[in-house]
Amino acid sequence: MKIAIILGTRPEIIKMAPVIDEIRKRGMEFVLIHTGQHYDHEMSDQFFIDLELPAPHHNIGVGSGSHGAMTAEMLRGLEEVLLREEPDIVMVQGDTNAVLAGALAAVKLHIPVGHVEAGLRSFDRTMPEEINRMVADVCSKLYYVPTEESAINLLMEGVDPEMILITGNTVVDACLRNIEIASRKSDILSEFSEDDRIVALTLHRAENVDNPERLRSIIDAILELEEFRIVFPVHPRTRKNLERFGLYTMLQDAAHVTLMKPMGYLDFLLLLSNSFMVLTDSGGLQEEAITFNVPCLTLRYNTERPETVEAGGNILVGADREMITGTARRLLEDPDFRRRMMEAENPYGDGHASERIIEETLRLHREGKLGMEAPEEVMSIPSRRLIHVEEDITVSDLAEREDVSVRMVYSAGEILFPAPDLNLRGLDVLIESGSRRN
Ligand code: UD1
Ligand code: UDP
Repeated sequence: MKIAIILGTRPEIIKMAPVIDEIRKRGMEFVLIHTGQHYDHEMSDQFFIDLELPAPHHNIGVGSGSHGAMTAEMLRGLEEVLLREEPDIVMVQGDTNAVLAGALAAVKLHIPVGHVEAGLRSFDRTMPEEINRMVADVCSKLYYVPTEESAINLLMEGVDPEMILITGNTVVDACLRNIEIASRKSDILSEFSEDDRIVALTLHRAENVDNPERLRSIIDAILELEEFRIVFPVHPRTRKNLERFGLYTMLQDAAHVTLMKPMGYLDFLLLLSNSFMVLTDSGGLQEEAITFNVPCLTLRYNTERPETVEAGGNILVGADREMITGTARRLLEDPDFRRRMMEAENPYGDGHASERIIEETLRLHREGKLGMEAPEEVMSIPSRRLIHVEEDITVSDLAEREDVSVRMVYSAGEILFPAPDLNLRGLDVLIESGSRRN
């Protein structure tokens, strides 16, 4: 089986690294394709070094541009490479433009797509990332979802539960594998004293940094929080906008703020895991913070990672200066509040997501379920029924006996994921018969 992996930005490199490791460990054939969306050394190459990844076999070299131009160029370049490489499956990760272009290019060539970190939804279609992940999920065949919550988002959109694999998030694999390496190799902590209350700050989301009022409001909060030692590795998009809106020098002049270039992964991981709290609008950081028991204040009004908020490790503070400073100070003044945030349970799994991703992919490939051939039989019209089950029977046994697919399971009004071994006694079940393809 030949796997093509498409990536283009910093978080994709980090989160696909454990999957690439797993593929290499098993000696499987693979091709690594970089779209070139991130191209600065510290936004791309540094992560290949830190994570000991092989150099990409192809780099489409799209660089920066408008969404339309970037996506068009990626589609053209990826199609060409995929036609040449003929992989059995294409894997994409997350919600960047590479995911949109990669999934679309592949499915149009009838190559099955596996979406790592599928099913996340912020329900905010003004976010470019929301459109990217939704389009990618429409194009995908296989969904590797981090949590049951994301699995249910996909069920609600009609995805076949058999193709939804709850694996955990590979970000945990990356954190657990690399934190020990980071403590050995990185000397980032030598720049701080024992008494510093380190705050790891990152900011790059378009809706924050392209909007001068929001950016100004966040920076005002940062400037006010003098009781912390705020470490701010600045994303290139953010740096440009801070300079454009005249805010960069204000940060430079603040003694409690340390501005840096984007940091390497090992340095950043060590810094983050030793932080008093995280201030961020990043997706990955919300997950890493809860993995390392560091309280996270998310500089957004919504999140596609609601599990972190429900678990108690993450608070949405938006771009509101008072919400940001008030919550940060409460963490300082109210130890019980901080302890509760630190004790939040990590919803993203046990650090073995990448093993599950590869194992399940191999299983479905063996079972012949990854095919994308055109139908050669006349379809039978799908029909759906809601039934109440009063016997001990599992999802897979019911599906086999009745020749149906179990689409949804309801328990006292709550939706459950129809895992194959779930006992359906006492539950309401939406079944579907017919020859629908996914
Ligand atoms: C992209 C993703 C975002 C992800 C983020 C991770 C999309 C739509 N956005 O946002 O989901 O969270 O990456 O960091 O795919 N730039 C450089 N050097 C680089 C890369 C970018 O200078 O190596 C500058 C350019 O001015 C560019 C701007 O940053 O125009 C934005 O880059 P872009 O790749 O369009 O989006 P990100 O904000 O990085
Ligand atoms: N990160 C890093 N150096 C930095 C900032 C972030 O290595 O200076 C890592 C961080 O550990 C996380 C990832 O980059 O794994 C998050 O990327 P980003 O915030 O750019 O994207 P998002 O997750 O929001 O898509």
